[in-house]
Amino acid sequence: MSPVASLVAVHEELHRVFAQFRELVLVGDGPHAAAVLAVYQALTADHAAAEEALLVPLLDDAARWPAELYTGQHAKLLAAIDRTAAAVAGLTAGAPGWRARALAVLDVAAPLHHLAEHHHLAEEQDLLPLIGEREPARLVEVAARFWATHAAHRATLDAATAALG
Ligand SMILES: [Fe+2]
Ligand SMILES: [Fe+2]
Repeated sequence: MSPVASLVAVHEELHRVFAQFRELVLVGDGPHAAAVLAVYQALTADHAAAEEALLVPLLDDAARWPAELYTGQHAKLLAAIDRTAAAVAGLTAGAPGWRARALAVLDVAAPLHHLAEHHHLAEEQDLLPLIGEREPARLVEVAARFWATHAAHRATLDAATAALG
């Protein structure tokens, strides 16, 4: 796998974890949905910090977009995760009105979904290929850090997968 592809795989895994969160909301499993969203939050925060430490400082005039685009999107992503976490708290299948409540959570999560997709696309179109040409080892390091953090949360993700059946 190329260094750039290793980061695309990281983005795909973030997308998968977020999809699992939405599926848990759909079935009204608030506790597992909240736990998976907390993992998504930890993975996103750690990944953003790694990119800001190792990749973003290497951007220069050759880049299509400035560093502030990426750091700004990271801040927006984390704020949107906080709003989504507040919305999902207390969701319980079978409680009165739970389906409407689940739909409301998905509505709050929709902008986060789009923001994450937009952000990953921006990185894959400019930041990653640019760093891949100059310092590919940094991409490998960012990917390795992601999977180390991911491994620390594996049990939570596995429990959620088991809950979905
Ligand atoms: Fe990022
Ligand atoms: Fe990224």
